[in-house]
Order: sequence, then C-alpha cells, then structure tokens
Amino acid sequence: MKKKIAVIGAGFVGTMVAQRVVERNLADVILADVVDGIPQGKALDIAQSSAIEGFDAVIRGTCDFSEIEGSSIVVVTAGFPRTPGMTREDLARKNAGVITSVMDNVRRFAPSSIVIVVTNPLDVMAHLSWIRSGFPPERVFGMGGVLDEARFRYFLSLELKVSPRDIEALVLGSHGEAMLPLESHTTMKGIPVRNILSKERFAEIVERTRQGGAEIVELLKTGSAWHAPSAAVVAMIEAALHDSKRMMSASAYLDGQYGISDIHIGVPVVVGSGGIERVCELPLNKNEMEALRRAADIAREMVARLE
Ligand code: NAI
Ligand code: 2OP
Repeated sequence: MKKKIAVIGAGFVGTMVAQRVVERNLADVILADVVDGIPQGKALDIAQSSAIEGFDAVIRGTCDFSEIEGSSIVVVTAGFPRTPGMTREDLARKNAGVITSVMDNVRRFAPSSIVIVVTNPLDVMAHLSWIRSGFPPERVFGMGGVLDEARFRYFLSLELKVSPRDIEALVLGSHGEAMLPLESHTTMKGIPVRNILSKERFAEIVERTRQGGAEIVELLKTGSAWHAPSAAVVAMIEAALHDSKRMMSASAYLDGQYGISDIHIGVPVVVGSGGIERVCELPLNKNEMEALRRAADIAREMVARLE
C-alpha cells in the first residue's frame, strides 16, 4: 500500500514538494491550505499531468484538515515567505500563529506522523511546532541544512569546475544569519577544499551561501526560493519513507549534544523511518563550537520572545 504524505500550505514550496513526491510515485499526497480553491486547483492541475509524467500516486487538494488523517509524514510549509528587506526575525511573529493552528490539526489528525517543518524562521518554527505537537522530538524537525549544503556545494562546484555531486559539505547552525558552513568538513572527493581555494575565496563562497535565500528574494522581488527547497524536503521525505538512514543536516531538538539543550538547531542527524534516529556529534574546533552554540542561543532567545 502506498504511504500518504500531507503537505500543509499550497504555496510555492508546498506545491512543488507535492509535485516532486507524486512524480516519483513516492506516496499519495494531500495538499492542504486555508485558501479555498488553491489546494484543490493546484492538486487537480498536477494530477492532470499524471498520464504524461507516468505516475499513479494520488494527489488531492483540500481545506479540510481532517483529510490529513493517516499521513505518515506531514510537511509544514504554511506561512508567509520573506520579502525584500525583511529579516527572518520579522517573519517569526507572523508565522508563529500559523504554526500553532497547523500543529493543532497535525496533533489531532496525524498523531503518529513525522513532521518536517519548512516555515521560516526555520529553527524557531521547528521548535515551536515540536512544543505544540507534544510529539517525541525525533518526529519533529526542520529542513534547512540540506538546502544550505546544496547551495554551498553548487557555489563551490562553479568555482572548482567540478560536478556539485563531487563536493561534500556540512552546514550547521541556523538556517539564517548564524549559518555555519564548516570549512574543516568541506571536500572535493575527499580533498579538503581549504587546500585548493584561498582563504579569501572560500570566505566569499561561505558568505554567498549564508545569503543564498536572500539573493533569490532580491532577484524575485516577490516571494522566495522554492525549487531547491522542495528538492531538499523531498530528499528528507525519501530518507524517512525508505528508512535509508541518510546522514543529513536537520534542525533537530538537542538535549545536551554539542553542549546545547532545549532548542532546535542545525546539526548532522541520521534520518530513517523513525524520523531523526540519532544526532551525530562531530568533533568541532573551538570556533565552530562557539558559533554553533551562539546560533542556538539566538534561536532560543527568539523562542522566548515569542512565547
Ligand atoms: P507561499 O506564500 O507561496 O505559501 C504559503 C502558503 O501557506 C499559502 O498558500 C498560504 O495560504 C498558506 N497558509 C497560510 N496560513 C496557513 C494555515 N494556517 N494553514 C495552512 N496553510 C496556510 O510561501 P512559500 O514560498 O511556499 O514559502 C513557505 C514558507 O517556507 C515560508 O515561511 C518560507 O520562508 C519558508 N521557506 C523555508 C525554506 C527552508 O529552507 N526552510 C526554504 C524556502 C521557503
Ligand atoms: C531560503 O533559504 C527563504 O529560507 C528560504 O531560500
């Protein structure tokens, strides 16, 4: 029997996640939104491509959240995207209310689901979602690092003139200004990139990665990125659905790991059918450890301001 996935928020990211999931026949999809007509229309449009694209996964749009019942994974993209000049902090207040109502529905109708939070500011929304859900922490986490790593690998591939697939990178910390691309773990086929690139050039690419979302916001003028974000979400969905035990960066609840407690922040984890099956504690140097803890403090302070 095919699994069922609920995507909450039929905006740019949610719709593209839904499309990628059904086009790969990964699962049936319920696309839910509060604006009547939007999820229904978008789901119908995607469904009408099935004969051409060759999928038989079922997709349906709805404003009735009881239809998410039976979903093994819920992807939360509901909320408002960042607009030019708006910081991730500005978004927090607007989106915290959305998260509260969404998670009440998730708790009620999909109590056994794994929840992948996408709504920004990511680490804060992942943490608020977890609090509201009452779920065990391994079942509520955020997608940020997979996207940030993809951007970092792409920018490095342009510089090094190799395929992005041959670059390995780890990006920890917040999905935001306190993002932490790790120089010590960035390699081209195992060769440390710091041995190939100058310090200055590496720093420029780190900064472009940190501003990766903002660069697209500036270009688009309205709305934010959705193609790479949806690809990143689907990679996480796939790891959970197939119990792949993929090591990925996720905004995960920490309970003492890296000396950090009671907040969601980007760290490497293993994703399988149980959600986050373990948090991987990598050896970090002093500066990296301090930066990670600082990112956690920033997220924790924002959560406290919103509560
Ligand atoms: P969008 O504006 O296109 O879509 C958001 C959708 O949420 C809208 O259709 C809206 O009607 C719906 N919505 C609002 N309140 C709702 C509620 N209570 N229940 C259900 N649906 C509700 O925005 P987009 O571009 O899809 O982005 C969605 C969120 O994802 C934003 O917060 C954005 O900043 C974030 N994002 C996060 C990324 C990450 O790496 N974590 C990457 C890209 C976007
Ligand atoms: C991004 O990084 C806006 O978080 C979103 O593109």
